[in-house]
Amino acid sequence: MQDPIGSLELEHAVIGGVVEALTRYADRLARDGGAPRDDLDRFVTFFREFADFRHHDAEESILLPALARAGLAWDSEPIAAIRRDHDQERYLVRVLRHAALQSSAWSDEARRHVAAVATELASFLRAHIAREERLVYPAARARLGREALATLARDLGRFERSTAPGVRAELLRTAAELTARYQDQDQG
Ligand SMILES: [Fe+2]
Ligand SMILES: [Fe+2]
Repeated sequence: MQDPIGSLELEHAVIGGVVEALTRYADRLARDGGAPRDDLDRFVTFFREFADFRHHDAEESILLPALARAGLAWDSEPIAAIRRDHDQERYLVRVLRHAALQSSAWSDEARRHVAAVATELASFLRAHIAREERLVYPAARARLGREALATLARDLGRFERSTAPGVRAELLRTAAELTARYQDQDQG
């Protein structure tokens, strides 16, 4: 891994694409315009297993501690805000997961509620990614020296290799499919 911050930014690009797709999915769902329930399951799988279990976990267990070692306070901004954001995102994904796993049909009210939570998750993640790219990644580039960056790259690489090969590729395929399915110009 040459540039550890660059690799996290690439993951942001993937997550950002699915965030935009989720916004369009939620719009369709809100007006009952052809938003298959199965796709909610796929969005949840992506946000849970890629955005949370991989990306956010790597940030929390590897990047933020590296920044703390470089002098940023663990309990102050921006680190505290990032950790709070991750908790809030986990909560919203959990709400969507419960809805996706529900065996009975959604009532109109339940459908609109799912759409509202999905919209909230999308706007939350959009703001979170912007916050990290404005405050956290530049701080990492400014504060981590060559050795700390090399350690970061090694630790992120090890983290990535700790999951079964093929899982990441499968999640990236899900991301590409959802992003393609819910494009800008779709009219539902
Ligand atoms: Fe994050
Ligand atoms: Fe991030």
